[in-house]
Amino acid sequence: MAVDSFSAKAQKISANIGAHYVDNARKLPWRSPPGGDLPDPYHVWLSEIMLQQTTVGAVKSYFEKFTWRWPTVQHLAEAEEADVLAAWAGLGYYARARNLHKCAVHVTEKLGGTFPQKESELLKLPGVGAYTAAAIAAIAFGERAVVVDANIERLVARLFTIDTPLPKGKAEIRAAMDAITPERGVGDFAQACMDMGATICTSKNPKCDICPVREQCAAYDLGEMESFPVKPPKKAKPVRRARFFWVEEQGRILLATRASKGMLGGMRALPDDGWAAGNDGDARPPIGGEWRVHENVVQHSFTHFSLEVDLAVYRGEKIATDRQSDIWWPIDNIADAGLPTLYAKAVKWKLKEQK
Ligand code: ADE
Repeated sequence: MAVDSFSAKAQKISANIGAHYVDNARKLPWRSPPGGDLPDPYHVWLSEIMLQQTTVGAVKSYFEKFTWRWPTVQHLAEAEEADVLAAWAGLGYYARARNLHKCAVHVTEKLGGTFPQKESELLKLPGVGAYTAAAIAAIAFGERAVVVDANIERLVARLFTIDTPLPKGKAEIRAAMDAITPERGVGDFAQACMDMGATICTSKNPKCDICPVREQCAAYDLGEMESFPVKPPKKAKPVRRARFFWVEEQGRILLATRASKGMLGGMRALPDDGWAAGNDGDARPPIGGEWRVHENVVQHSFTHFSLEVDLAVYRGEKIATDRQSDIWWPIDNIADAGLPTLYAKAVKWKLKEQK
């Protein structure tokens, strides 16, 4: 495409997406309305960390819970890490919660409680990668930054029929997003693109009939919307096996605090057999006794592998444990333990089974 027509197309796209957002912006608890004042950087940062690999629908109630309980970054910094992890339970990718707390402490203790404004400074914060730094700079501070998440990747790859397979195609997609990003109103524009990706330019069955940039869309011209972005071939996920242990005594079950490093680090969980991303568990119970094993009660999908879980059950009296991280937890109150979804699924299975 000639340079002139490229920039004319980019300008039209930019203007049409911006105008569409004025009437169609999703109302989300961390957002300002289109054209409004800049939102609270704490809210923007918190929402962007929660939204990494997680949908808007899943994040909303967690965002409300966190901002009610910890209204400022200082409050969050003063919280116990264990309480933050427990409040995060169910959102997944728990390294985010540990970094969230670490970042709150850093901003409060080292930066006087104020988030940096520049993308390059934001990038230095724990848990803040390239996407998140650009999103916070643009949305919270109106800095011109090029924001590209998976929704925007899809929208832009279609508009410009970028056919280099991901992840290599990311550089071209970013350059095209740079070309359509305006100088002012960058935060609104980025969020307008995210909304378009989430609601109109969807992976399957995009709603081109209501799209404000259909006329500028090269993939629509070809009738090949779903062919973009071009994804690399999918690798088969390995399946790992694990065994969880249900140790019950007088209406309480034994929970352990997981080691701080590694998957689901620092979270409370059922005792298990040492499964990890790279290996199966050894199926060995934490204490001797007569165990009743239920095979394959839970399946859980992680990004790079899936896990099949057996649950071994032991009921006793006066069970002695010597591990420091062990906690006896009342079964009636298990919802408050902040178990990660994987373990919560096993508990749910057990409670249903014994009804
Ligand atoms: N996904 C990531 N950040 C978002 C935002 N600010 N609005 C909507 N979806 C998002």
